[in-house]
Formats: sequence, C-alpha cells, structure tokens
Amino acid sequence: MTERTLAIIKPDAVAKGVAGQILSRIEQGGFTLLAAKLIHLSHEQAAGFYIVHRERPFYGSLCSFMTTGPCLALVLEGDDVIRRWRDLMGATDPAKAAPGTIRRDFASSIESNAVHGSDSAESAAFEVSYFFAALEICPR
Ligand code: CMP
Repeated sequence: MTERTLAIIKPDAVAKGVAGQILSRIEQGGFTLLAAKLIHLSHEQAAGFYIVHRERPFYGSLCSFMTTGPCLALVLEGDDVIRRWRDLMGATDPAKAAPGTIRRDFASSIESNAVHGSDSAESAAFEVSYFFAALEICPR
C-alpha cells in the first residue's frame, strides 16, 4: 500500500556534512521524495514534535539536541514506506544497528542518531503535517 512518512536528517548529521550521503541512500533505496525543508527548530517546536516522549527521562535533552542546528525534514512516499525507512535507518541505538544501516554508519549515540522516521501511520499523519503545509508537498 502506498503511504507517506516523515523523515528527518537530524542536526548531528547535517553538522557532520553527511546529509547528502543520506539523501543518496534514500534515492538509491527507491523512496520517492515529495518534500524537503531545512529548518532550525526552536525548543518549543522540538518539544511539540516529540510530545509523545514527554514523560521519558531523555525528553529535555532530546529537545535541546534537536535545536543545536538545522535539520532536514523530508516527506517520503512509497509502498510500505514507514517500515522500509525504519529498516534503512536501523535501530535507535547505533551500537545495536545492523551493518549497512544509516544509524550504524552515521549516528554517534542513541540520542544523536542521525535520522528520524515516523513509527506508524498515525504518527506519520501528525508528523508530516507538523512540518509541511499541504501546498509544500509535491505529489508524484
Ligand atoms: P527518534 O527515532 O527520533 O525517536 C525518539 C528519539 O529519542 C530517538 O530517535 C533518539 O534521538 C532519542 N532517544 C531514544 N531513546 C533514548 C535514550 N535512551 N536516551 C537518549 N535519547 C534517546
């Protein structure tokens, strides 16, 4: 089933200069890019995005990390894209991520883990609309 997901190339990966390499993996992986935006989040914007994690001990630190520099937000489309993008990202903790995954190759810690992907259709709907207006998404 064709679906959409929100992907983020996080501030650590943008700062390291590996956003292009990650985009290349996205293109080579057969994902269709519908939207892209470089954005430097405020603490409030990061906190709203990660609101589901508000009770977690790492919430404050995660939100601060997400404000350390610009991130690249993307909308990807394709069959089973939510699962396929999460597979390409690898496990949240790069130490546990499989060889060949983005987090294994580019993440430096469980927090500074290079990329984000929506974890369900419900999350994707919230997250895509959090970053993008309907007119910023280019149907293909
Ligand atoms: P992400 O896939 O964006 O979803 C939530 C984020 O919280 C996750 O990637 C990490 O950046 C961060 N995170 C998850 N678990 C931890 C943890 N144990 N300690 C610090 N940060 C975490």
